Amino acid sequence: MKYTAVILAAGKGSRMNSGIQKQYMELGGFPLIYYALNAFERSRVDDIILVTGQEEVDYCRTEIIEKFQFRKVHQIISGGDERYLSVFRGLCAAESTDLVLIHDGARPFVTDDIIERTIQSTLQYGSGIAAVPVKDTVKIADDKQFAVQTPSRDHVWMMQTPQTFLYSLIKPAYEKVIEQRIQNITDDAMVLELALGRSVKLVKGSYRNIKITTPEDMEIAEIFVKKI
Ligand code: CTP
Ligand code: MG
Repeated sequence: MKYTAVILAAGKGSRMNSGIQKQYMELGGFPLIYYALNAFERSRVDDIILVTGQEEVDYCRTEIIEKFQFRKVHQIISGGDERYLSVFRGLCAAESTDLVLIHDGARPFVTDDIIERTIQSTLQYGSGIAAVPVKDTVKIADDKQFAVQTPSRDHVWMMQTPQTFLYSLIKPAYEKVIEQRIQNITDDAMVLELALGRSVKLVKGSYRNIKITTPEDMEIAEIFVKKI
């Protein structure tokens, strides 16, 4: 079986409010995107597709892939305006593969154990999504900011990545949501739910597997990076 990782780095990083895009910000002496690439390079995936901005393709090739000698990154392609469009481009580039691991380049602390759990789950159930139980109570609010519902905390999980799927499941599901112009797709699991009405399997992620989104996440990352 062939395993392909699609690593996403085509976002604008608007919530980070920084001059330089967050995926290229310096963390522990390396650009942020280095960490996710390194984790997958060292894992058992065969092939990595890096999805980045049109303007950054050359920079990524020379300053990241060649510089750090990542040998599994066989393609660097440009993404779309929304995350799900970037994923779709990655899936189209993947073509002949059996299993695809979709990972946010903005999650530097993914580990081999997490990657492996999503793979094992996919071999058994067709999907494996890294996730953690919420720590805080979650409320559903109405448009006027009145809390209207409190889901039981035992059943509320926060989705992380990698989100891993059989290629034969996720590719047609993505084609369907794109054809039907469904909007507001914020993760890949949703695509399976919406297109196929199929539940995805959650596996244990990690509270360290954070997505770098806002400036305070960088402060936390500076602490975590000292431990790897
Ligand atoms: N991403 C992408 N293509 C997009 C949007 C996002 O490849 N059009 C990637 C980001 O680079 C990131 C991951 O998807 O690695 C998760 O997205 P997010 O954290 O939302 O990053 P940004 O979209 O860059 O940030 P923001 O939403 O604050 O602008
Ligand atoms: Mg975004």
